[in-house]
Amino acid sequence: MNTNPRPADAQAIDEAARRLADGELVAFPTETVYGLGADAANERAVAEVYRLKGRPPGHPLIVHVLDAAQAAWWAHWPARAQRLADAFWPGPLTLILTRRDAAPGHACGGQPSIGLRAPSHPVARALLAAFAARGGHGVAAPSANRFGRVSPTRAGHVIDDLGDEAPMVLDGGPCEVGVESTIVDLTRERPVLLRPGGIATAQLEAVLGERLLPRDAGAPRASGTLEAHYAPATPIELVSPGQIEARVAQLRARGERVALWARSGAGGDAEVRLEMPADPADAARALYDALRALDRSHCQRILVEQVPDDDAWHAVADRLRRAVAGSADRR
Ligand code: TXA
Ligand code: MG
Repeated sequence: MNTNPRPADAQAIDEAARRLADGELVAFPTETVYGLGADAANERAVAEVYRLKGRPPGHPLIVHVLDAAQAAWWAHWPARAQRLADAFWPGPLTLILTRRDAAPGHACGGQPSIGLRAPSHPVARALLAAFAARGGHGVAAPSANRFGRVSPTRAGHVIDDLGDEAPMVLDGGPCEVGVESTIVDLTRERPVLLRPGGIATAQLEAVLGERLLPRDAGAPRASGTLEAHYAPATPIELVSPGQIEARVAQLRARGERVALWARSGAGGDAEVRLEMPADPADAARALYDALRALDRSHCQRILVEQVPDDDAWHAVADRLRRAVAGSADRR
């Protein structure tokens, strides 16, 4: 009997925690995307995450914790971290902090820092609590997709990506936020935004009482910040609202089948057309599912309508730009 993915009831969550404690991998839902989890203190388990995901060794993983108390086991905990955790944890915010000397660094890609996040998804929290009851301190988990590809926002996406190699997948339904966490680096003099995500920059700045600096050459490596990432296999391009009709017509005249994700009502001639939600949070939630569906639609080209250039759309605009760069890299 094929039992993967497994509905995330109490029994399945307990089994998942046992597997983590035994050094096995478990895929689990968070409010952002599904994660591919391993005991962050277990070197072999963490190595298996890198192998299965196909992730290059120097790219650190986020360690998921229950709360600030668990985070402070892993890292030095400055006042800024406490302020951000009070406001946004549990939730879609990852903090980069200086790792304690005594804390295992297997998930940290050789860096002295560590990425920590307390997810809000009830299944993720129940799993972390059950794992803590077995002596665990945190679960290292990248998004549960192969390196460079679109992140999974449903349990079925994890199986689609990892196939027979998928570990136990806890099914907690579709992810609420739909794009990865916001990453803020607190290891430097001033806080730096490494990756826009589920929490808007203005909200973070309001709590910190200071501006976030944009990432620069001194910023640590972060695969979610590579220029080419989050990409479907089909070539994808962004089109401004006024250009959609003309671009669809041009591609169709060349004999290409076109798949379109658009808000403006334009592009009715595309072979496949999905509606992009008008609200940025709804669009973020729909983003990866839409990219996967369009990728599976046997079209030669994916067109996506450009999104507004403002804070509320920052995370979606960022992921779309990287998807375009990633698909261009593969050609
Ligand atoms: O929403 C999320 O963050 C999801 C869910 C599963 O929590 N996780 C996720 O993980 O997106 P991943 O591995 O796909 O991306 C983690 C990002 C990468 O860009 C990684 O390089 C960065 O976090 N990161 C982790 N630890 C870091 C560190 N010590 N310094 C700099 N960047 C770090
Ligand atoms: Mg990822």
